[in-house]
Amino acid sequence: MNDFSFSMPTQVVFGRGVTARTGAELASRGYAHALVVYGQGSVVRTGTLGRVLASLDAAGVAHTEFGGARPNPSLAHARDGIALAREAAADVVLAVGGGSAIDTAKGIALGVPYEGDVWDLYTHAAAPVADGKLPVACVLTIPAAGSEASASSVLTNDETLLKKGLSTELNRPVVALMDPELTFTLPAYQTAAGVTDICAHILERFFSTSGPVPVTDELDCGLIRSLVDMAPRAIEDPEDYDARANIMWAGTLAHNDLAGCGRGVNGGRAGGWESHGMEHELSAHDPSVAHGAGLAVIMPAWMRYVWRSNPERFLTLGARVFDIEPVDVVEDCIDATPEEAVEDAVLATIDELQAFFCSLGMPRTLGELGVTADDIPALLETLELNKGAEFGQLQRLTMDDARKIYESAL
Ligand code: NZQ
Ligand code: ZN
Repeated sequence: MNDFSFSMPTQVVFGRGVTARTGAELASRGYAHALVVYGQGSVVRTGTLGRVLASLDAAGVAHTEFGGARPNPSLAHARDGIALAREAAADVVLAVGGGSAIDTAKGIALGVPYEGDVWDLYTHAAAPVADGKLPVACVLTIPAAGSEASASSVLTNDETLLKKGLSTELNRPVVALMDPELTFTLPAYQTAAGVTDICAHILERFFSTSGPVPVTDELDCGLIRSLVDMAPRAIEDPEDYDARANIMWAGTLAHNDLAGCGRGVNGGRAGGWESHGMEHELSAHDPSVAHGAGLAVIMPAWMRYVWRSNPERFLTLGARVFDIEPVDVVEDCIDATPEEAVEDAVLATIDELQAFFCSLGMPRTLGELGVTADDIPALLETLELNKGAEFGQLQRLTMDDARKIYESAL
């Protein structure tokens, strides 16, 4: 097990009706004026925004609304939010929504005290500073990105088509209010995309080079097993509270860094985040691509390309999540060599995982996302700007490797 540092500074307030406590949670921390950041209208239609504003009023917390964060949120919108937060003299940024609202809120919170362009922080031209940074709070409406407790914020610069993540402990929200009933209104597609993203956050960490870490491996595989059980229930019955609640909690545990403890190299984050890197190009070039849907296509394609670098990890996943053992395959196929048995078990594991995503309604191919072979050169161009000529951990990937992975998923 490698050394690690883990802290979960975000207070999670979880359960039925907790939205009504938003105002009290902010007031108890001494916040007086919230910039309320939300998306493109779901929270207005569902009544969640109204309930949040009422609770702020009841607790005496003033508020300024800032709606319109689109899925795969834009830098330009965050810049507008920074100006509004300054003008309103907000002392907290409250996101009501999913990763897109929360990441916009995080960008605003870091941007307020920074005199230059907030994009400098995402390109690492300047370092984020704690002094004057606004705290972020959130009311989560979709389990997916894990931004409610993560150290990351991801924004897209529409002028350069660069989608960039900024990872800093300063990004962790102070409080996340998580009422699973708010997710009853999620369409099946968004539910599925969210579950896929949650699985991907676990698997990006699981597929690190640092070998087995039994406690963390069990946690990871247990989370995925629970998602495999719960997701079909939430799709079948959107108001299945236990399914919604377990998915929501899994989303937080998948991405608050607990799922990688002991597997980071040199104290860094666990894993190479190859699939996220390649997916982010898809949703940067076409923001209508849901991040999780892109991952449903890219992650199995990446796995099929790299599994030979570390078959053991894939066998562990197969055994613990899908009960796939190479020995069974040997028994079924008397002629199989041990190497063939391992290959069969690994490929069966990847097939099972992809079948799970597809069973929820996720795409199998890039074509289903409207991406064609002609789009690949442009994806590689921004991928290289984001990741450099080589990236990844389980297996270092060149741009030629990335091209082959994209092509294999067409
Ligand atoms: O915009 P509105 O109208 O609110 O609708 C949203 C949006 O269309 C809708 N929705 C959310 N809650 C709903 C609802 N519809 C009905 N009922 C509800 N309760 O769902 C759609 C997706 O919302 P969004 O916030 O975009 O989803 P998600 O949480 O998946 O966030 C995606 C963004 O997060 C980034 C992604 O790249 C993407 O930009 N990520 C952020 C991470 C982080 N900060 O740690 C890590 C992730 O890997 C990811 O990269
Ligand atoms: Zn993700």
